Amino acid sequence: MKFSETMPYTGWPVNSSFRWRYAMEIGPETYVPKTESILCNHTGDYGTDVLCNEHADSLRLLEPLTLSEMFPLHGLEQLYMQRINELLEQGKNESPVVVLDVGGMLGHSWARLAHVFREEVQQSKVAFVVSNARFYPEFDITDFVTPRERHFLEFFDITKQYMHYVVGTVSKLRHLEITLPNGKSLPLAKNVDIINERKAASFWTNVPELVVPQIASMLSDDGLYIADSGLHILGDQLPIDAPPHEKRLFHAFTLAQENLCLDRVSRIEAGNYIGSHIPNRMVLRKENAPLVSLS
Ligand SMILES: C[S@@+](CC[C@H](N)C(=O)[O-])C[C@H]1O[C@@H](n2cnc3c(N)ncnc32)[C@H](O)[C@@H]1O
Repeated sequence: MKFSETMPYTGWPVNSSFRWRYAMEIGPETYVPKTESILCNHTGDYGTDVLCNEHADSLRLLEPLTLSEMFPLHGLEQLYMQRINELLEQGKNESPVVVLDVGGMLGHSWARLAHVFREEVQQSKVAFVVSNARFYPEFDITDFVTPRERHFLEFFDITKQYMHYVVGTVSKLRHLEITLPNGKSLPLAKNVDIINERKAASFWTNVPELVVPQIASMLSDDGLYIADSGLHILGDQLPIDAPPHEKRLFHAFTLAQENLCLDRVSRIEAGNYIGSHIPNRMVLRKENAPLVSLS
């Protein structure tokens, strides 16, 4: 078993904020490789992630994980990956697949996905857009990243080249254009194939009847809008005792649905997970867009 260059005492590499696979010593010169990883945030004696220092002497690092292993896709990101692949296969060659995270801050999910689709991004086949009302990740990032997330900073340094960070409230977003690697400009309006929104514009606004349709109006004919806006949806409806602001927000989504030819989707429509509930999310897709699929 080959061990990497390590620090005295701890056996951990100096100044590494990447995750490593490790082996555990169970007897003299006998090590069991572990499938999990540890984060080596060397910020001093206690600069470790979840690992207890007391066990450090019996652990040996093997090799750093690849970026894809370090930043695997979670939850809905799997659904988004499949949908992007489907849209690519359908041959949207003329116009790229555009995905937008409204109010995404750093866009952790989009960074993980953009890394998966980095070749397609460079070929101008997919565009990842993250919006914020006033936040500029390039400048403000260190204010928002805790020391524990330092490894994400290194990832962000790599993935930012695949992302479009745009600044503006929803009313401005609809008038923005992005420039693709091939030099072509693309307006966001009516060209966005996937919109993700989590605790962002529709969650914070006082005028959801305005904001929700504005967001939905950016959808392309293949468009899908998934919002996690704090609605506690029970089945397909709000509970009868839902607070007034939730009722108003729910009504705003209904308005957008009725006026923009959208279907409300409350269960996965195709794939191995067909019929599974999509809990507490408002999911709207264009009437003739591909079904929401998850395998
Ligand atoms: C709490 S952060 C959400 C962060 C991220 N989506 C998450 O789930 O961790 C709220 C985001 O919503 C954005 N936002 C709030 N009101 C907005 C509006 N009217 N138009 C566009 N973005 C807005 C803010 O700029 C910020 O990026």
